[in-house]
Amino acid sequence: MIEFRGVTKQYPDGTLAIEHVDIVIQPRTITVLVGSSGSGKTTLLRMINRMVDPTSGQVLVDGTDVATVDPVRLRRSIGYVMQNGGLLPHRRIVDNVATVPLLRGVAKSAARARSLELLDTVGLDRGLADKYPRQLSGGQQQRVGVARALAADPNILLMDEPFGAVDPIVRLELQTELRRLQSALDKTVVFVTHDIDEAFALADQMVILRTGGIVAQIGTPAEVLAHPADDFVASFIGADRGQRRLRLQPRDPASGRIVVVDSAGRPAGLIEDDHASIGDGASPDVKAS
Ligand SMILES: Nc1ncnc2c1ncn2[C@@H]1O[C@H](COP(=O)(O)OP(=O)(O)OP(=O)(O)O)[C@@H](O)[C@H]1O
Ligand SMILES: [Mg+2]
Repeated sequence: MIEFRGVTKQYPDGTLAIEHVDIVIQPRTITVLVGSSGSGKTTLLRMINRMVDPTSGQVLVDGTDVATVDPVRLRRSIGYVMQNGGLLPHRRIVDNVATVPLLRGVAKSAARARSLELLDTVGLDRGLADKYPRQLSGGQQQRVGVARALAADPNILLMDEPFGAVDPIVRLELQTELRRLQSALDKTVVFVTHDIDEAFALADQMVILRTGGIVAQIGTPAEVLAHPADDFVASFIGADRGQRRLRLQPRDPASGRIVVVDSAGRPAGLIEDDHASIGDGASPDVKAS
């Protein structure tokens, strides 16, 4: 479990990036931090692995205040996927994936074997192992970034807009893959995006941030759609495509999932229906204001 308790972050230049935030993140779930540019998403994410330290308050991982854990050790135990994959351009794919195991002193041959397994895990051909990042497509590079973050077998995976740079179809593929991976590997995933559709597609829990690093709402996608906390949230979840109106379709009995559609009937996301507040046939409209 990851817990933010009364966390505030003010940067040395006076910028208040996060203001008194409380969040509980359950193990083996996907929590999506969503908000517009500058709302403090990256700051919040980086406080989990101590790339940023809070000004006040505490961040706890499994009950331990991360402030008491050596930052280098902490960072090697938590997977981190950066925007654009963050791959080292002059290292082969296999060595990029093995970065952390090699730093930890794992033998080169064992690290290579593990890297190849991880390429399988994220759905990449092993034939890519000896190529360089620039020889891969954007989507393939993103998958390598995920493989690298998984290399140390962390319980926690932090992902900062990892699919931002790829086209919508590949992005959808990567989202599906991430959901599959998360349930197969039992990781706790904290995922940052400014794309509300992506948030609905992935989240077990959404944390909607407003400018100034203030939490506007925390809830399941179904809760947020059915009961936006205020006008800000209502407009944020509806304003993405002008006058879009998101609504819930009745549950699909075959899959047990609820489909979120926009006013043109285009699916905007899926909700796993284990949320009691939404019953069959409930389709509250959420209007852009
Ligand atoms: N090192 C820093 N020093 C001073 N201010 C910073 C620093 N890093 C971030 N900020 C400021 O803190 C606020 C939150 O930044 P943060 O990067 O967390 O936002 P974000 O939600 O991730 O934005 P984006 O969607 O653009 O990535 C912004 O106002 C930003 O300018
Ligand atoms: Mg950011």
